[in-house]
Amino acid sequence: MHNQNRTHLKVDSLPHIVVTPPGPKSQQLHHRASQYMKGYSSQVRLFPVAFASGKGYTLTDVDGNTYIDFSSGIYVTGCGHCHPKITEAIQKQVATVVNCHDFTTEIKVKLLEKLVEILPGDLSGIQFYSDGTAAVEAGLRAGRAATGNSEFVSFWRDFHGKTLGAVSLAVMSEDKGMRASGFFLAPRPDCYRCPFKMSYPDCGIYCADFLEQVIEQESTGRVAAVVMEPIQGWAGSIFPPPEFIPKVRELCDRRGILLILDEILTGMGRTGTWFACEHYDVVPDIIIIGKGLGNGYPVTAVAIREERKDVLEKISASSSYGGNPVACAAALATIEVMEEENLLEKSAHLGEFILLKLEEMMERHPIIGDVRGKGCLFGVELVKNRDSKEPFDEAGKLVYQKAFRKGLAWIPAGHILRMSPPFMMPEEVAAKGIDILEEAIDETERELL
Ligand SMILES: Cc1ncc(COP(=O)(O)O)c(C=O)c1O
Repeated sequence: MHNQNRTHLKVDSLPHIVVTPPGPKSQQLHHRASQYMKGYSSQVRLFPVAFASGKGYTLTDVDGNTYIDFSSGIYVTGCGHCHPKITEAIQKQVATVVNCHDFTTEIKVKLLEKLVEILPGDLSGIQFYSDGTAAVEAGLRAGRAATGNSEFVSFWRDFHGKTLGAVSLAVMSEDKGMRASGFFLAPRPDCYRCPFKMSYPDCGIYCADFLEQVIEQESTGRVAAVVMEPIQGWAGSIFPPPEFIPKVRELCDRRGILLILDEILTGMGRTGTWFACEHYDVVPDIIIIGKGLGNGYPVTAVAIREERKDVLEKISASSSYGGNPVACAAALATIEVMEEENLLEKSAHLGEFILLKLEEMMERHPIIGDVRGKGCLFGVELVKNRDSKEPFDEAGKLVYQKAFRKGLAWIPAGHILRMSPPFMMPEEVAAKGIDILEEAIDETERELL
């Protein structure tokens, strides 16, 4: 068993801010990088800090500031930064063999067998990739090959990656260009901002019924799959009503359409279970996993149900780096750490603790319109007015920057604050993170209201 408290600092001295961040070294490095590096996320643009190291639930920047990590990279390092067992497994494999195309290695066999154990239902046809979007594309190709149909239906404000098929599953903007043909979008349930202006549960889950209308009105009737994030991450940690995904499953079964769940963000313990679909008692036909799978090492996968698994042969699913031995070593060690350190349970418990704190905080702050969470995945929605629910983007930016300056490394952009701490963060550290958040909200309210 490895030491859980993997930071060189004592819990009560966290965070440790020695120079107001982003400090001079961060700024200088970021200036040098940004002459060439283009396409930063809005988070980096809002707070251009340069990190030097990560340990457990902390990140340290080049100026020597140590932050409490409320982002896990970007929903990636659920087991904590540089977990010793995962680091050791990667180091050992790097010194053994790094790439041998998609030939079999023992480490890959072990990972495949382990994954089949933790995947829901009979999802047992697997292929590996190095980023999420490539696994999503493989899922789409597999969906087409398995059904002989070519169209897809996905949902408003889902995010699935940045390659053409993945982008075509999401809302368009001028800079992204045209959606590929055969892709249709349906309104997505969001009970805080229902697109149909209805209220749960009186709505009777109308959004699920409307999905059927989208299929009938938009497609040619040759829909291969409905593709969705079980819980929307990028859109702001938006949870569907409990009946929604089972209803979509039933619709898909009735119409001979596959259900593809993109669990890149929600999988691997993020919501307190291996996969978020377990909360809804639904097994998809195809699942996509990534992010937490290698605890930061790039490894992603597509998995398809037993009866259809040969379809991955049909689409020649392999790639240059997918399933390389180092990636497999990282993923196998990650799953073992999750099991050995009871991290599913810890994710669920820490999640309950933080959610309660957020709910209490909401009572004290008029700009908080909604708080929600499951496991270690949270959203806090900032509004100008609780009745109008008008999004408060300026507040979102200010809270983000203020909290970061005080020592909270985290994710938001826009009016929804998103948080995803590593699962083994002690409650007292999480409570400090929440206190920092509240101080930042307090100051922002005094400035903007
Ligand atoms: C749900 C979901 N799908 C797909 C992706 C794309 O993954 P990647 O950035 O590894 O290509 C992401 C990334 O944030 C995601 O959250």
